[in-house]
This record gives sequence, structure tokens and C-alpha cells, in this order.
Amino acid sequence: MWDKLRAYHAEHARRPIAKLFATPNRASNFSARMGDMLFDFSKTSIDTEALWLLMQLAEKAGVAAKREAMFSGEKINDTEGRAVLHTALRNLDGGPVLVDGADVMPGIKEVLGRMESFAGDLREGRLAGAGGRITDVVNIGIGGSDLGPAMACLALAPYHDGPRTHFVANVDGADIADTLRGLDPRHTLVIVASKTFTTIETMTNAATAKAWMREGGGDPKAQFAALSTNLEKTAGFGIPAERVFGFEDWVGGRYSVWGPIGLSLMLAIGPEAFRAFLRGAQAMDRHFRAAEFKDNLPVLLALVGIWHHQICGYPTRAVLPYDQRLARLPAYLQQLEMESNGKRVGMDGAKLTVPSGPVVWGEPGTNGQHAFYQLIHQGTGIVPCEFMVAARGHESELAHQHELLVANCLAQAEALMNGRSMKEATSLMAAKGLTGAELERQAAHRVFPGSRPSTMLLYPELTPEVLGMIIALYEHRVFVEGVILGINSFDQWGVELGKELAVALQPVVAGEADGADKDDSTQMLVDYIRKRR
Ligand code: F6P
Repeated sequence: MWDKLRAYHAEHARRPIAKLFATPNRASNFSARMGDMLFDFSKTSIDTEALWLLMQLAEKAGVAAKREAMFSGEKINDTEGRAVLHTALRNLDGGPVLVDGADVMPGIKEVLGRMESFAGDLREGRLAGAGGRITDVVNIGIGGSDLGPAMACLALAPYHDGPRTHFVANVDGADIADTLRGLDPRHTLVIVASKTFTTIETMTNAATAKAWMREGGGDPKAQFAALSTNLEKTAGFGIPAERVFGFEDWVGGRYSVWGPIGLSLMLAIGPEAFRAFLRGAQAMDRHFRAAEFKDNLPVLLALVGIWHHQICGYPTRAVLPYDQRLARLPAYLQQLEMESNGKRVGMDGAKLTVPSGPVVWGEPGTNGQHAFYQLIHQGTGIVPCEFMVAARGHESELAHQHELLVANCLAQAEALMNGRSMKEATSLMAAKGLTGAELERQAAHRVFPGSRPSTMLLYPELTPEVLGMIIALYEHRVFVEGVILGINSFDQWGVELGKELAVALQPVVAGEADGADKDDSTQMLVDYIRKRR
């Protein structure tokens, strides 16, 4: 099937995307809806035949069977011997989910209930710090223990009616120093979020926060909470069991915002809005599980991804939310997609014969338009763009600004597809009075080649429910792409080597070891730093 797809692409590669609209109903045939969400992929070079071949590819890869295996708790993460059940965290009114024959739902609901009463107590002032009411919450975590809640807290700012939330991730002391400055240790709750509770960045920052709180008259025993699978370590750190919210190893770090790792979000927006967030994701789960491939948003988004990266050979994809509150979504998706699908061997350990996942990057529009869109429009490479925008913003008094935002988003997709021909550019320059060689030269700079692909995700408004849908949509997209590539999307061995070497290098940087075993370059760099510490 890969060969057929490549051959089909090669045969039709030169056909302009805009020409595909000559076929009636292209927009409705190459778009799909889930509830009130609309995904349009008609501005790509995928046509009926290519879509059929892509769906065959998904079928042959066994997407449907693997999807069932995931939802039903089979140990599909087989390099770690784990089930993959972030979907169970939002399966609130669904049936039992079995892992090793035991239903995990009662445990999930029990922890969610504990989180909700903790959040209620804190938000209503019953749970206080040494100085009284908790006004600020600092989540210390990194990767999936940071990006999910940080992204979602920003996205749902209009729903905040609880304490202010802050996020510290980097081991760079600047991060925690800048965050804690201005906070009152007697009115702050520190959440230590770490699945393993061994991540060096998080544990170092947690120790710094504990000392800060002690020195500032706060009470770390009462003002620290932990989110982790490692209950021994949380106890060892001195966090009382009633403020530890546990989860299981079948929740991957980058898929963990739906459970305890989402506590800071729940504190900010309240348990009810948090449940709406889960409901949105659950609705996407149900759609993903039941809809035919041709109508299935996650499957279609994945097939577009496969088409662009593995078939067309475009090395990156840009996620471009026209939604300032989704400013952290590209970073969140970088971890979700690149940590999941940035692999070099298949499930069987053999080297992949197709490229694995692409580089994912992006920024909110319209800001990006004034920065890197130049390359997207006129650079020599092609960057498939994934736009998203809400039909309405929360700022009803600024509706005219939202109209401008939407117009910009749609205009970019249009410009990318249609471009501007040499003929059009020439008449523009001629109208300005240019002639001859100078007319030609100036016109060439104003040509947009067009036929640059983009997709568009539209939703009514960025509510907790819609945010849940968007994240679950991308989670399942990653899953489908991973199945098609035959890789394990749920491990991350590639992050280990650097961690090990950093631990070994720390004493060298500190001057406590000589580092003679290091390469010449590393020794030179260490030497530079040591002399300037
Ligand atoms: O190093 C990568 C990673 O393991 C991510 O997968 C994870 O989200 C992050 O580190 C943080 O891990 P933890 O939650 O265990 O501190």
C-alpha cells in the first residue's frame, strides 16, 4: 500500500490543489464533523483515490483492532509491559475497563472524588495555609506533568474562578526564582507533579520550593500536595497521604492531564468545568471508537498527516491556532506527537522503512503571520499548516476583533492554496508604472507559488468541553499514525541517554570530578564554564 500511495502521489504531484475544487462538493466530501466541530481537509492534495488508498493503509495496519485493544486495556505498550488507558480517566459514565481482569474505574472515580473535595475545600477557603486562604498554586512538574495543565489553564482563562496558577518546569533556577518572587509562602499551595517522583528537575525544584516555604513562614506539611504513581517516594518527601493523588502506570506522562496531573486546572476552573473538560474528551473517544474511517476526525487527521509526511515528504507540520489562549498548544503537541511517534524501530525491533513522525511546531496567529509565514508562503520547502479557530471569542464586546482574527485565519489558508501567479504579479507591478526587465524582476519577488496544503479545525467557542475534544482528537491522531507506522507510541526510551549523561556530568561541571573520559569538545566546554562560574 505504501508503494501504491507513493506512485499515486508521484503521478499527481504537480496538479494544483485549487484545481481539485472543479469536482463538485469537494469541501463537503473532504471534511468531517463531530458534533459542532468541523475538520476541513479539502485544501490538501488528497483526492478520492488518495483518500481511499490511505483508508486501505489504515485498515491493513489494523487500526480498528488496535483501537479496541487500547480502549479495552490490553498491554499495547509492550516495551514497558503496560496498558494505555488515559481514555479510562474520562470514561465517567462508561462501563468497566479491565486491566489484568480487574476493573480500574472504581479507583479512577475514587481519586477524582478526592480531587474534587480537595479542590472544593481549597477554593472555598476551608483548606488554608499558614497565613489563611490559599491565593496561589504552583505546579512543579516537567514534560507531561507540566505541559498539559499549563496549556489547559491558559486555554481556559475565562473560566478561572479559583486561585491563581503558576507553573515551574525548568531546572534552570531562573524558572522557580521568577515564579516564587512575589508569591506569599503562607498563602501558596505547591503541587509536586511527577509520575515517577524521581525526575531530577522536578525533585530539585520541589526541594527549593520547600525551603522557600519554610523560610517564609509557610507550612510545607499542610501546603504541599503530590500527584504521582510512586506513593513510597511521595511519603519519603514528607507529603501526607491525604494530599497525595495517585494514578497508575497505564497513564502515560504526556496523556495524563485528565487525572491527578490536572489538579491545578481543577483548582483554577472548579470541579464542574473540569468534568466538562473530561466529557468533551469522552465524546471524542466515543466518536473515534464508533465512526467509520471516512467520517472519523482522528483517523482523517492522521491520514492527512501520513500523506504529508510519509508520502509527500514534507519534513515538518505547523500547528497554527488562531486563538491566543492556545499559545501553549504547539508545545503541548510537540511532546504528544514527537515523544510518541519519534521512533526509529517498529514494534518488532526492526528499523523502520518509512520515516516516523514529523517535526511539529507552531505559534498562534496572527502573531506568526508577522514572523515566519514568509517562509511558509514563499520558501522553497513546503510546510503543511494545521489552522484552528473558534467561531466566536469570549470577549463579546470585542467581536469585531474576533472577526478580524477569523478573516486572517481563513485568508492564510486561501493564500496558501491559490497563491499569486507571475501574470497577476506582473500586472500589479505594471500598474505601479514599472516596465521591462525591472518589471519582471520586481514581479518575481511578488509571486506566491500556491498549492500549499492546509487543514482547518473549526469549533464554536473554546469551552472546557471543546478543549477536551481538541486534545483527545490529537491524542487519537497520534495513536492512528503510530499504528500505521507500526511503532510503539507509548514509550520514550529516547529521553534516557541524555538524562544519564547529565547525572554523570554534574560533578564534572561542579569541579568535583575531572571528566578526563569525556571527548575533547565536551572537556573544552566544561573548561570554559568552570573558569567563569
Ligand atoms: O523525560 C521524559 C519524561 O519521562 C516524559 O515522558 C514525562 O512527561 C516527563 O519526563 C516527566 O516525568 P515525570 O512525570 O515522571 O516527572
